[in-house]
Amino acid sequence: MPSSMIRIEGLTKRYGMTEALKGLSFEVPRGQVVGFLGPNGAGKSTTMRILAGYLTPTAGKAFVGDVDVSADPVRARAMIGYLPENNPLYEEMMVFDFLHFIAEVRKIDPAQRDARIKSAAERCGLKDVIGKDIGQLSKGYRQRVGLAQAILHDPDLLILDEPTSGLDPNQIVEIRELIKDLGKEKTVILSTHVLSEVQSTCSRVLIINGGKLVADDSPENLPASGGEGAIHLVLGSRSGAAIDSAAASGVLKSVAGVTGVDVVEGEGHGTVGFKLRFGVEDPRRALFEVVVKNDWVILEVRRTQVSLEDTFRKLTGDKKAA
Ligand SMILES: Nc1ncnc2c1ncn2[C@@H]1O[C@H](COP(=O)(O)OP(=O)(O)OP(=O)(O)O)[C@@H](O)[C@H]1O
Ligand SMILES: [Mg+2]
Repeated sequence: MPSSMIRIEGLTKRYGMTEALKGLSFEVPRGQVVGFLGPNGAGKSTTMRILAGYLTPTAGKAFVGDVDVSADPVRARAMIGYLPENNPLYEEMMVFDFLHFIAEVRKIDPAQRDARIKSAAERCGLKDVIGKDIGQLSKGYRQRVGLAQAILHDPDLLILDEPTSGLDPNQIVEIRELIKDLGKEKTVILSTHVLSEVQSTCSRVLIINGGKLVADDSPENLPASGGEGAIHLVLGSRSGAAIDSAAASGVLKSVAGVTGVDVVEGEGHGTVGFKLRFGVEDPRRALFEVVVKNDWVILEVRRTQVSLEDTFRKLTGDKKAA
């Protein structure tokens, strides 16, 4: 048995003029739960569709186990449970009928169909709605139907494209718990925009941007791999007049060592808070000089932990920092 569940090698995908993937490569060993992050349009869904055998790459290869997905999509799909983005379902079908239909498509042995449907429905908390039409279900329950559909044939690999998007906070927690539970016995790759989700569910994070891999680490190590620190700063003006946050941001951005500035909450009365990111050079000394020159007063300054969110923004958003 090959040790890696997913192996992607130099994957490129072009849609007309758009190059959605630009030579993406990574490997996922069996049993890992991986968070796949990236801003809108980064290429997450494209990668997942290729991996699930629903889209052919322009160049490069995707393997699931030892199967080349493009060469033998049928055998690959037998090992994969896939929850597509936006989870398209048959609205007018009853949950049971839908799962039965999927069991047929998946060619599950007719003698085992009912047992498998029952087990997947129970696992996904669908017992009480099994006789309802999918169109009547809340979004959270539709996601459960999507997950039940994905695990029906007991695949080794789950590919979940934004499984918690559009859910309320309670449903998010429930679906996350379900994914965590599934992750105990299956390899899972899930895409998301919710960084906290990755911290609570995944043991590894892959970040892509513009069709390229920009980070690959554990959620704990990733912030540090951004190689920088952050400073929380609150400024007031010596005269007591309100500070213009946009103008002050501009000034702070030009301080030696500062790689990014976000405006955060101040302390009221015209004060402004900032979150400054910096690289190798600690900018605090230079900051004091700028503060004096601008007739500001420092009400608070402290180094803070760099969050996964900061790292994500640095790797995928902030052009200056990157
Ligand atoms: N069928 C298509 N035809 C043309 N361009 C496409 C198609 N599908 C995706 N793209 C383009 O490919 C790029 C990657 O899209 P993709 O859907 O893979 O991103 P994503 O990371 O899943 O984004 P999101 O977070 O918004 O879901 C984008 O520029 C997108 O506009
Ligand atoms: Mg997508």
